[in-house]
Amino acid sequence: MKKASLVVLISGNGSNLQAIMDGIHDGTLPAEIKAVVSNTKEAYGLERARLAGIPAVVKTKRKEQEREQYDAELAEIVKSHQPDFVILAGWMRILTMAFIGAFPYRIINLHPALPGTFPGVNAIERAWQAYQKGEINHTGVMVHLVPDEGVDLGPVLAQRIVEINQQDSLEDLERRVHQCEHELLVETIQKTILQLEENHA
Ligand code: GAR
Repeated sequence: MKKASLVVLISGNGSNLQAIMDGIHDGTLPAEIKAVVSNTKEAYGLERARLAGIPAVVKTKRKEQEREQYDAELAEIVKSHQPDFVILAGWMRILTMAFIGAFPYRIINLHPALPGTFPGVNAIERAWQAYQKGEINHTGVMVHLVPDEGVDLGPVLAQRIVEINQQDSLEDLERRVHQCEHELLVETIQKTILQLEENHA
């Protein structure tokens, strides 16, 4: 079976990148990461990529640069690796169609909340606060396709509930959400790769 080519976009710690790399290493994911791209040079995920021998690319946006121009250049970098899928694993920049249009149905985003809830940054913290106010009794994780510029919005590939307990500190909840997303992301990429294989068969 041909391995699926992935390019992973990150902005930070890269624990989800690590989960993908581990999934490849243990044979769960028939895939190869062609490159990891970060919009910030401080992202620890870059170090994880380098340690694994994966090309780690930093692409920062210049202040005066238009978003579309940055995204078009980012798309060229990603395209040069000919990925089957682009994985947004903690990528914290909103992408314009200048990027999205280059990879139709090929961009997969991970978000640490359920569909339609807490889009954008600090989703886990906002869910924890909403729980304290009695507004929600659980949160979750979702993996979805990115069809357009909507933030953390698009056809859902998978979602999973994460319960919140009364004694949970924010750190407790963060730990459980991250654990859940590491599992769900790898499972969903695996299913998506297998579907791609079936479509080509
Ligand atoms: C993850 O929790 C991911 O779901 C979130 O950023 C974190 C990155 O962690 N993404 C978003 O909030 C997207 N709106 P990581 O760098 O350790 O993988």
